[in-house]
Amino acid sequence: MSALNVSRILDIDLAPEGHLAIDWARRHSPLVDGFLRDRLSDGALKGRKVAVVVHLEAKTAFLATVLADAGAEVVVAGSNPHSTRDEIAAALVDREIEVHSVRDSGYQAWEKDLLSVTETAPEFIIDDGAELTIRMATHRPDLFAELKGVTEQTTTGVARLMALAERDMLPFPALAANDALCKHLFDNRYGTGQSTIQAILNLTNMLMAGKTVALLGYGWVGRGIAAHIRALGGTAWVVEIDPVKALEAFMDGHQVGNLSSSLPMADFVITATGGRRALSREHFALMKDGAILANAGHHDLEIDVEALADDAKSFRIVRSGIDEYVLPDDRSMLVLANGALVNIAGGLGHPIEIMDLSFAVQGVGCHELARGEVAEGVHVIAPEVDSEIAAAKLHFHGIHLDKKESHQEDSIDDLLGPEV
Ligand SMILES: NC(=O)c1ccc[n+]([C@@H]2O[C@H](COP(=O)([O-])OP(=O)(O)OC[C@H]3O[C@@H](n4cnc5c(N)ncnc54)[C@H](O)[C@@H]3O)[C@@H](O)[C@H]2O)c1
Repeated sequence: MSALNVSRILDIDLAPEGHLAIDWARRHSPLVDGFLRDRLSDGALKGRKVAVVVHLEAKTAFLATVLADAGAEVVVAGSNPHSTRDEIAAALVDREIEVHSVRDSGYQAWEKDLLSVTETAPEFIIDDGAELTIRMATHRPDLFAELKGVTEQTTTGVARLMALAERDMLPFPALAANDALCKHLFDNRYGTGQSTIQAILNLTNMLMAGKTVALLGYGWVGRGIAAHIRALGGTAWVVEIDPVKALEAFMDGHQVGNLSSSLPMADFVITATGGRRALSREHFALMKDGAILANAGHHDLEIDVEALADDAKSFRIVRSGIDEYVLPDDRSMLVLANGALVNIAGGLGHPIEIMDLSFAVQGVGCHELARGEVAEGVHVIAPEVDSEIAAAKLHFHGIHLDKKESHQEDSIDDLLGPEV
């Protein structure tokens, strides 16, 4: 049966535009197109069912095509109801890959799409936020028990997998792709940092120089966002709950405060905590008129948009991607991209070169799972594999490193004499 007959997408006629975007992503993805393809050429994925549930845009689609080229039976869905690119979904179906995803078709339709992927009984999942893994556990425990492995993209998803493992509910191997150095050091920090600020400025057509930004969370994502705010002449007021991270932000030269000191002066408020309701009803009361709110964390619920909608006396869309809620005291709150991840739902997502690294990690992880090389429980790829990926990226940039010679090693024997 053709992929079109089993898929749910908006419109197959959008495929030509999607093909162009996927081909553009390929041009800047030397790791996925080279390093990963080489790994997969041993046939480990041949005939294996792989579900890819990551934000459905061009880079994800390119990964899906590389897996399919390696012989995997790939089925794809978006990991967020607001982030799918319909032209990319169409292009994948045009390449005979099954897809279940339509942008902004509502939470129920998105849930249904994830359940449709579940019904294909995947052996492996390349997941984001553990969105498919959790749904398989709750809706089809029989198929969940048959899973051969999961590799997980995000901080939030890894936390969910660990919680499953703690409850003794993870009967298969899982790889925390997020925890690989080649993922979070670059994706969470540089990728999310740049693309979040880019998306906010593109959606609003505003200037960062001279702006004050309350930034909630100073993990890998928060660090990157703060650096990009500063690079463009803005001031980040970091709001943390962890004293060590707050001190780090202070030493990095950012302003540090709590919600009540930071929110009243903020032109922009950005959430990057990985939790829910970091900004809620009581916090909207602290913000100034015209504050612009954006979320970079996994959950659409980091900003409690529902509470804002409940409290507002009026609502209107003021510009594509910008919703205005006017509170009873006439203060206007502007929410970007419905409170979903602003860099993906309201922008083009991470730079391609960054996703090339992240998807190399995810793809290699899936390969290791398929080769049966990972034990039950949650693991990180071996440090040697991380180094291989970094070396391959450097090699692409024409950079070759020296090896440390044995005479350059520091040895305690030089001080103590050889062991007798
Ligand atoms: N937008 C994207 O493209 C993208 C990319 C990577 C990760 N993420 C997501 O971004 C989120 C953050 O990721 P990370 O890698 O920085 O995680 P992290 O765990 O390194 O950092 C989160 C930080 O938020 C702080 N925090 C938690 N609750 C808080 C609160 N209520 N107020 C203030 N600070 C709070 C924590 O102390 C921690 O330092 C996760 O949901 C992750 O999945 C998004």
